[in-house]
Amino acid sequence: MIDRTLLSEQDIQTRLDQLGHEIDSCYAGREILAVGILKGSVFFMTDLLKRLKTPVAVDFLQVRSYTGTSSSGNIQLIRDLSMDIAGRDVLLFEDVVDTGLTLRKILDLFASRQPRSVKIAALLKKDLLENRDIPVEFLGFTIGPEFVIGYGLDLDEKYRNLPYVAVWDPSR
Ligand code: IMP
Ligand code: MG
Repeated sequence: MIDRTLLSEQDIQTRLDQLGHEIDSCYAGREILAVGILKGSVFFMTDLLKRLKTPVAVDFLQVRSYTGTSSSGNIQLIRDLSMDIAGRDVLLFEDVVDTGLTLRKILDLFASRQPRSVKIAALLKKDLLENRDIPVEFLGFTIGPEFVIGYGLDLDEKYRNLPYVAVWDPSR
């Protein structure tokens, strides 16, 4: 039921080279607190962080929203950060911005913790009206509304380790 490859391993790795340069020039002379949103962002985040010259600290948080191929709309924080973000330059890593509810929830949560800055790096953003207001400073690719798997993205915990991104077509 894997319909077609949307982004090849090469497409992704080439784009990550470019994003690495963009992030390094944005944070010149600073230190990044990289925050991964578990679990989908891990592949994208580690591949991208390995390219940076900027010093980084790493932390994670985990939320839950999806069951199967649709968002429940109800975002729960399952695991909070282990570090204090006050005064830090936080770079949030997300696999895909879909409805944008997850990032909106995390941005709201972080606002009260007085970070010096919060920016977002996302591998994918779906081209949808409802996520237009989510500022993604470092974006890999804009995609359509389809459900995708691979390179961190799962369907009920499967397919995360594919090195490419593919469209899931349940009708095939
Ligand atoms: P949002 O809160 O609707 O923006 O959804 C964000 C989260 O939903 C992502 O971090 C993914 O875990 C999951 N998600 C959204 N779209 C997809 C998809 O096409 N494939 C796999 N997971 C997805
Ligand atoms: Mg998921």
